[in-house]
Amino acid sequence: MRKIIIDCDPGIDDSLALMLALSSPELDIMGITTVSGNVPADMGARNARKVLKHMGRMDIPVYIGEQVPLKCPYIDAMDTHGQDGMGESFLPEVPGDFPKKSAVEFLEETLEKEKISIIALGPMTNLAKIFSMRPKLIEQVEELVSMGGNFRSHGNCSPVAEYNYWCDPDAAAICYDLFGKAGKKIEMVGLDVTRKIVLTPNILEYVCRLDPENGGFIRRITGFYMDFHWEYEKIIGCVINDPLAVAYYIDRSLCGGFDSYTAVATDGICRGQTVVDSMDFWKKEPNSHVLTETDTERFMRFFFSRVLKKKDGSEWEAEELTLLSCL
Ligand code: BDR
Ligand code: CA
Repeated sequence: MRKIIIDCDPGIDDSLALMLALSSPELDIMGITTVSGNVPADMGARNARKVLKHMGRMDIPVYIGEQVPLKCPYIDAMDTHGQDGMGESFLPEVPGDFPKKSAVEFLEETLEKEKISIIALGPMTNLAKIFSMRPKLIEQVEELVSMGGNFRSHGNCSPVAEYNYWCDPDAAAICYDLFGKAGKKIEMVGLDVTRKIVLTPNILEYVCRLDPENGGFIRRITGFYMDFHWEYEKIIGCVINDPLAVAYYIDRSLCGGFDSYTAVATDGICRGQTVVDSMDFWKKEPNSHVLTETDTERFMRFFFSRVLKKKDGSEWEAEELTLLSCL
């Protein structure tokens, strides 16, 4: 089992990513930290708890993170994720207090003690706060897998920028810069690969038939997201970005890419753009592994064989989900 902290902003696709992580025996999830992104950090924490409750994993602590980006005014993505951040499913709140410790304190204390990996599914504000104060702690990060950025793909909230990095471009820029200085690489799971992960109504119907409880939960939170994609991108279905980062952390063979130096633009019309030096103009040591290839069907099999359960509670094998090859 590998120790990880998931830093996120749930968020519909964050919720799906949490479902996957919680269904994966390879992961020892030490905690979930939230950050303001899709929704404010405290709402994100309440949503993380709703997912934990559904998955029967209330043992995992959730820490509330930074409320606003480092420098830019905070702009949420409730137009995409709904007023409750979970597709206006308005699932019941889970009672109970949150730990007093903030996300930044929890991350910092954990990294002081041991080496862990971080899967970052939202803006990188919490991480930039810690690493700019304590750059030495980067040595304790086994791996940082970040859903964010884009190489050849267009952006999803400006012509050139992906939301997580656009929301807090200064944080993303600091993390890429400091990881480079520490001789480490961020795994950049950007829109080039996540755009290939589209949950379609047909797939959803199939999984609801296989497992009405978990399929139904996914249906309840993704309907709003599908409507959003139809309205703005004319896609029938929704791009579920975040679970790909979790899947890739567990199984490297799900995506391919290349090492490069990446810088993040912090203002102007390029705000949040990942400038990937794929042709090595700058002659800088790579600070990122930029993903460009993935296998959609393999991901879908991987994801649903873990998240769905059979009627008797047992696991699905990826090969058993036969219909996925034709949906
Ligand atoms: C990213 O932004 C958010 O809307 C999603 O949760 C995902 O992390 C995609 O650009
Ligand atoms: Ca997210």
